[in-house]
Parts: sequence; structure tokens; C-alpha cells
Amino acid sequence: MVEEKSDTEESHTEQTGRTTSLLRRVLPLGVGFAFGYLFGKRSKGAPALDEMGMKPSEIETPDAVKQAMETEGEEESQPEPEESSPEVTAFSAPETHGMPMLGFGTYELDDYDQCVESVKTAIETGYRHIDTAEGYDNESAVGDAIAESDVSRDELFVATKVSPDNLDYDQVLTSAEESLDRLGLDYVDLLYVHWPTGDYEADDTLEAFAELREEGLIREIGVSNFTVDLLEEAVEAAEEPIFANQVEMHPLLQQDDLREFCGQEDVDVELVAYSPIARGDVADVPELRAVAEKYDATPEQVSLAWCREKGVTAIPKATGQEHIQENWRSLGVELDKEDVAKIDNIDQEERLIDPDRAPWN
Ligand SMILES: NC(=O)c1ccc[n+]([C@@H]2O[C@H](COP(=O)([O-])OP(=O)(O)OC[C@H]3O[C@@H](n4cnc5c(N)ncnc54)[C@H](OP(=O)(O)O)[C@@H]3O)[C@@H](O)[C@H]2O)c1
Repeated sequence: MVEEKSDTEESHTEQTGRTTSLLRRVLPLGVGFAFGYLFGKRSKGAPALDEMGMKPSEIETPDAVKQAMETEGEEESQPEPEESSPEVTAFSAPETHGMPMLGFGTYELDDYDQCVESVKTAIETGYRHIDTAEGYDNESAVGDAIAESDVSRDELFVATKVSPDNLDYDQVLTSAEESLDRLGLDYVDLLYVHWPTGDYEADDTLEAFAELREEGLIREIGVSNFTVDLLEEAVEAAEEPIFANQVEMHPLLQQDDLREFCGQEDVDVELVAYSPIARGDVADVPELRAVAEKYDATPEQVSLAWCREKGVTAIPKATGQEHIQENWRSLGVELDKEDVAKIDNIDQEERLIDPDRAPWN
């Protein structure tokens, strides 16, 4: 069933730097190395140590991974990990310019306790990129989950968004400070313009974003729901680089034009896919079901793997441990070129988020 309302509209009717720390760069490598060491296979996106000119001893590894490496050789006497364990950190999300390419979406996680639990489960599972928005009414819960987790702030990539009603210069500054207060953070890694509507005006709005970046309150500037034309205008207007454009993208809405535009050398904007499993609709697509069967995976996992193959970061939302872990395990699905091509050629299109005020209407 196609939903016509946007994430921002549904809750109150309007309702993720390049300055990556050493730890953030080596953590996925350490985890990826341990995974390869333990399972004889390197996870995609975690470069081989020799590709980095690094020896295993030079890699800073988290305690859980060190422990796993130390027990190699004692493998036979070790019990099998319990399937219900929330920790499936054997995978690591590849990063693009410091942004983990598999993130955790939180739209509709607006019940405080549920949101805290889901975000904590996601972080325990291995997610390091959390996506929220001032319009999701859950920044406090996201912030509390981060504070209660065992992962330090600089290992996380936190993104939030400014609502369309708060996009004039002064409002952007106030809105960002309020978001930081609710999140309990000194900075966010990425702050998006949620929609190019309401008070959005490229020069004025983006000047405030640039100021926030200069003050260190945000690491990167993002936009969301921008068409090629709007993105081109924003790239020209902004004093600081536009890091990412977050748009709906999945195998039923492949965003060829935006992907081509964002990939141009003089543009160089990351694409972040929201609704990357089409809110579950990918499960009904015959081509995805067929490819999933081949990899002993689910259509949702294939959809996420396909986004990654396209160089696009995906931020699936899930509530319970089962979906959270299933989506994380998509990092273990490496699609052959021929299967990527099969998905590219799906002859079915579906846009889920399509409000009248959307710039493409
Ligand atoms: N910038 C924007 O305007 C915008 C718009 C929309 C979304 N977003 C962001 O993108 C995130 C993701 O998009 P989305 O929430 O619209 O859609 P989505 O991630 O494509 O789908 C979420 C839905 O799929 C279900 N699900 C999750 N994993 C599953 C699995 N493995 N198998 C079957 N069902 C599964 C979830 O159910 P459960 O919750 O029950 O697990 C939920 O109902 C949002 O949470 C938000 O952070 C941004």
C-alpha cells in the first residue's frame, strides 16, 4: 500500500564527518579483520589490512573483537554464539567520507521507551550511524539511548534534520541548538534541511548551516528531498560543501538522475536512501525474491545490498531485534554483477513519500 504522507507530515503534520577520527576509521577495519580471521572472509567495504599498509598489530580493535581473536585456537571448546544475542558485530559497515553506509532510521519510533530500546539494540548490533529529525519527536530518546550505550560518542555518526517551518536564518540556529539539547550532544555529524519547502531559501538557510559548521556544532551540511535542480542551486549557494542529499531510494525508485548528478566530480554529494526497503514492499517484488533465494537472504537484505552496490548509504528503520539484526546482516550479502543488473532492470516503480508540496510535484 503506497503511503502518500511524508515522514514529517505524519507526526505533527509537518513534521548524519570528513573529519573522521582515527578510531572511527580503524574500528570497522578491526571488526572486518576479526570477521575475516574468524570466518575466512573479509566483509565488503573493510579494505584488506595490506591495502592500507597496516599490520594487524597496528589496528586498534574493540575489546569484544580482541577477545574473539584471542580465543582462536580454542574454537572447539567454545560454545556457539546464541542466535538471540543482539551482538552481530561480525559485520562492519563500509564508510564513505566517514559516514557508515548502513545506518539506523528512527522515524515513527516516537514512543520514548521503545525508541531507547530499539536504538540501544541497533548500537549493540553494530550500527554506528543513527538518523533522526526534530520532527520525529524522538531526539531525547535517541540521545538517551546513545548516552546509555557502551559506544563512545566519537564512534557514532548522528544525523538530525531541521523541519521546513524552521528554515529561516535565525530559526535554523535556534532549531539546531534545541536539537543538540534534546540529543544531549555537543555536535551532530550531519544536519539536514528536511524538505526544501516552508521557509527554505537557499542563500539564507544555507548561510545559517554554514555558520553552525564554522562553530563546530555540526560537522556536515545535508539536504533532503532535493531534486537535481534544487541540489544544483544549493551547491552553488552554499559557502560550505553540501555533504549529502537524503532521498527516497530503493529498487522500485532507483533515482538514476540524482545518482548520476551526485557522482559528478564537481558536485560530489553523498546520497542517503530513506525507505530503503520501501517500508517492506520489496518483499513482494518477484525479481528481489528470486535474487534473495539465490543468496539465502531476504528481499529486504537484497534491497539494502543493492543500495550499497550503488554507492548509496541506506538507513532502514526497524523496531525489534529480529528486523534490526536481519538488516545488519545485509552487510554479508555481496551481489554478483548479473544480479545487480537484474535489479536495475526491474520494471516497476513506486514512490512512497509523495506529498503535494514535494518539489517533484
Ligand atoms: N528525509 C525524509 O524525508 C525521510 C522520509 C522517510 C524516512 N526517512 C528516514 O529513513 C528511515 C527509513 O525509512 P522508513 O522508515 O520510511 O522505511 P523503511 O526503512 O524502508 O521501512 C521501515 C518499515 O519496514 C519494516 N521492516 C524493517 N526491517 C524489516 C525486515 N528486515 N523485514 C520486514 N520488514 C522490515 C519496519 O517494521 P518494524 O518497525 O516493525 O521493524 C517498518 O515498518 C526513517 O526511519 C527515517 O529515519 C527520512
